[in-house]
Amino acid sequence: MSLFRFFLAVTLLHLLDAANADSPAARYIPRSKILDKTDDLLPEYDFIIIGGGTAGLTVADRLTEGLEYSVLVLERGVFQNSSSVTTVAGGGQGLFDPTLTFNFNSVPQAGLNNRSIAVYGGMILGGSSGVNGMQVLRGQKEDYNRWGSYFGPSSDWSWEGLLPYFKKAWNFHPPSVELANEFDMKYDASYWGNTSNVHASFPTMFWPVLKMQMAAFQDIPGVDYPPDSGSGKAGAYWHPASVDPGTVLRSFARSGHWDDINLERPNYHTLTEQRVLKIAVQGNRATSVIFVSANATDQSQAKSVKARKEIIMAAGSIHTPQILQASGIGPKKLLKEAGVPLVVDAPGVGSNFQDQPFVVAPTFNFTTFPFHPDFYDMILNQTFIAEARAQFKKDRTGPLTVSSGYCGSWLPLQVIAPESWEDIVERYESQDPAAYLPSNSDKAVIAGYRAQQKALAKSMRSKNSALYNLFLRGGYEDGSAVYLHPTSRGTVQINRSDPFFSPPEVDYRALSNPTDLDVLLKFTPFTRKYFLETRLRTLNPVELTPGANVTAPADIEAWLRSVMIPSSFHPVGTAAMMPRHLGGVVDEELLVYGVQGLRVVDASVIPDLPGSYTQQTVYAIAEKAADLIKRRA
Ligand SMILES: Cc1cc2nc3c(=O)[nH]c(=O)nc-3n(C[C@H](O)[C@H](O)[C@H](O)COP(=O)(O)OP(=O)(O)OC[C@H]3O[C@@H](n4cnc5c(N)ncnc54)[C@H](O)[C@@H]3O)c2cc1C
Ligand SMILES: *[C@@H]1O[C@H](CO)[C@@H](O)[C@H](O)[C@H]1NC(C)=O
Ligand SMILES: *[C@@H]1O[C@H](CO)[C@@H](O)[C@H](O)[C@H]1NC(C)=O
Ligand SMILES: *[C@@H]1O[C@H](CO)[C@@H](O)[C@H](O)[C@H]1NC(C)=O
Ligand SMILES: *[C@@H]1O[C@H](CO)[C@@H](O)[C@H](O)[C@H]1NC(C)=O
Ligand SMILES: *[C@@H]1O[C@H](CO)[C@@H](O)[C@H](O)[C@H]1NC(C)=O
Ligand SMILES: *[C@@H]1O[C@H](CO)[C@@H](O)[C@H](O)[C@H]1NC(C)=O
Ligand SMILES: *[C@@H]1O[C@H](CO)[C@@H](O)[C@H](O)[C@H]1NC(C)=O
Ligand SMILES: *[C@@H]1O[C@H](CO)[C@@H](O)[C@H](O)[C@H]1NC(C)=O
Repeated sequence: MSLFRFFLAVTLLHLLDAANADSPAARYIPRSKILDKTDDLLPEYDFIIIGGGTAGLTVADRLTEGLEYSVLVLERGVFQNSSSVTTVAGGGQGLFDPTLTFNFNSVPQAGLNNRSIAVYGGMILGGSSGVNGMQVLRGQKEDYNRWGSYFGPSSDWSWEGLLPYFKKAWNFHPPSVELANEFDMKYDASYWGNTSNVHASFPTMFWPVLKMQMAAFQDIPGVDYPPDSGSGKAGAYWHPASVDPGTVLRSFARSGHWDDINLERPNYHTLTEQRVLKIAVQGNRATSVIFVSANATDQSQAKSVKARKEIIMAAGSIHTPQILQASGIGPKKLLKEAGVPLVVDAPGVGSNFQDQPFVVAPTFNFTTFPFHPDFYDMILNQTFIAEARAQFKKDRTGPLTVSSGYCGSWLPLQVIAPESWEDIVERYESQDPAAYLPSNSDKAVIAGYRAQQKALAKSMRSKNSALYNLFLRGGYEDGSAVYLHPTSRGTVQINRSDPFFSPPEVDYRALSNPTDLDVLLKFTPFTRKYFLETRLRTLNPVELTPGANVTAPADIEAWLRSVMIPSSFHPVGTAAMMPRHLGGVVDEELLVYGVQGLRVVDASVIPDLPGSYTQQTVYAIAEKAADLIKRRA
């Protein structure tokens, strides 16, 4: 049922299409910025960026702004500015548009009744920031300090070290005073910046029930209301969306870091619809990038372009490991089986794969519901939809300024499992780290998992580290939880019989570590407590899925295995920033171990997930990386 509702929410997006019908301007493709033909390429660039996505376009903007370096961005997807990219209403319209995304099946998941999971991501200029749900969230202080802890106490990968880059990455627009008062929203602009061309803002209205849903967390012991979503604290809070409040269009890596600017920058070239196959390494140095037209099915027309200074991998957590492995930078055994000549034995490439499981809590229906309008009016009530369209057309206000979600709770284990959290952490901490990784895992990868186990156990004990996220939509039906810090680790590996053109083999290894089930079994009673034992009780909530009769742990487990999706589209970790003896792929400057002139700047460097969704963090990493690169160049 919750899944059905999820897809229903997506169909809403199609209903709204007409509201934002493309103007001729929207179809204008500024060809002067994009090289028309590969023949227009220069033979060499200072920097070549593989993947024009969230991180790739952020870095490209920063590297070209001083005009001293030449930069080429190679992107597999198209330039696309249609309403499915730009529309705010509903959030993430591009998700099921096959011209904007990749979409293939994962390896069947043994822990999930052998279901295969659809692996999705953005494949356009702008990457996943062009198709995502627009929710703008930051993790907790502990998350960023934990990343630095893998290198020691002096690392500047820390909350303090990243805060300036969170500020640089986002231009924050507070909610209107009326809206903030009406909904008791807390915010503090001092955690944000106001210079970026990537905007974070609020809609002009919210669904009324959200006020009561947010207040209901007061009725649960231990839930804090931090001063701002960007304060690095766990609790219940409101957060902005990646929307330009002036135009009320999606604000993303392309609109903020590419549109208009490279017309004025002769040192900045972009080539779309090109698939990078591999990086050529000469001696010890990454020297050039080999690519084909995105439509090609073999390598006969492959082209090569040289990088004078650096090649920067920014193809995202699913494709960065594929390209590295196909270039001979990966686990020795895998490369041998695939017939790829070894360049560097890098066992961490494609291991340590993580995403945040979704659909892991019961859903409820408020059968007494004195609120109007609500989220479902936008899907089901034709009168309401017509009024909303008219209002948006008139002055770009109203329900069509609402994207996917703006509030909820991000809670620590202590709050959701007050009686059993210590036992859960103790069981986790005493695990043999090798027991839950693939049986042939490299020693360094096991050591890294061990280091994460220690650090994550500490976070699990912290009152300020969120594992549980209930995100609220504002309808008579609600209850969608995301598990923020799974302990299971998957793999992304090239297809051994077709490394270049077949999608990589993605294995979430969902629920392979029993701690995940330990934690998830607490999500169900806690979510019931939120709906049934707080002020929400007065709305007479009735449980829809899995159903109030499903209470025995074995029954909850069976339900989880049949519905859980091991992804919220937040893949990370496949080229982790960790020390090399811990299976790390890149160092603290994001340089690949064992190869000169090669860096990774995208979500794959994230060693373990933050207690939030990922886009805000990816932008901050990219801003920091740009400074690191300029310092050396
Ligand atoms: C549907 C969806 C919804 C999401 N919702 C949210 C949300 O609401 N809030 C949030 O915080 N996060 C959300 N996320 C996650 C967030 O958007 C990502 O974590 C982030 O954008 C990843 O950035 P990246 O730079 O690592 O990769 P991307 O932005 O995905 O960029 C990678 C780029 O590389 C290109 N590429 C790949 N392979 C090749 C190749 N061989 N040659 C050339 N180019 C290549 C791709 O086409 C793509 O453009 C969502 C993601 C998705 C997919
Ligand atoms: C994208 O579309 C929007 C809205 O239609 C328009 O305002 C903007 O100029 C377009 N951007 C580009 C680069 O074409
Ligand atoms: C999953 O597939 C494996 C291998 O094919 C099989 O042994 C197992 O019984 C299947 N499990 C379920 C729950 O169907
Ligand atoms: C932008 O932020 C700076 C520093 O916090 C502040 O001094 C300035 O007033 C802000 N400008 C606007 C337009 O909000
Ligand atoms: C790829 O194929 C599509 C559809 O046939 C076409 O529209 C597009 O121009 C092609 N792109 C390239 C780079 O050849
Ligand atoms: C949910 O509650 C609404 C009233 O808010 C009611 O109209 C609807 O029938 C209920 N749906 C289910 C499935 O119980
Ligand atoms: C649909 O929306 C209209 C306009 O807001 C409202 O008057 C009406 O009561 C709604 N219908 C239902 C069934 O909720
Ligand atoms: C791997 O590639 C081969 C050859 O293209 C293909 O037949 C096979 O289905 C691919 N395997 C997976 C898991 O995609
Ligand atoms: C719960 O009730 C539903 C509907 O009556 C039934 O199909 C299901 O088997 C029951 N589940 C359990 C665990 O009792």
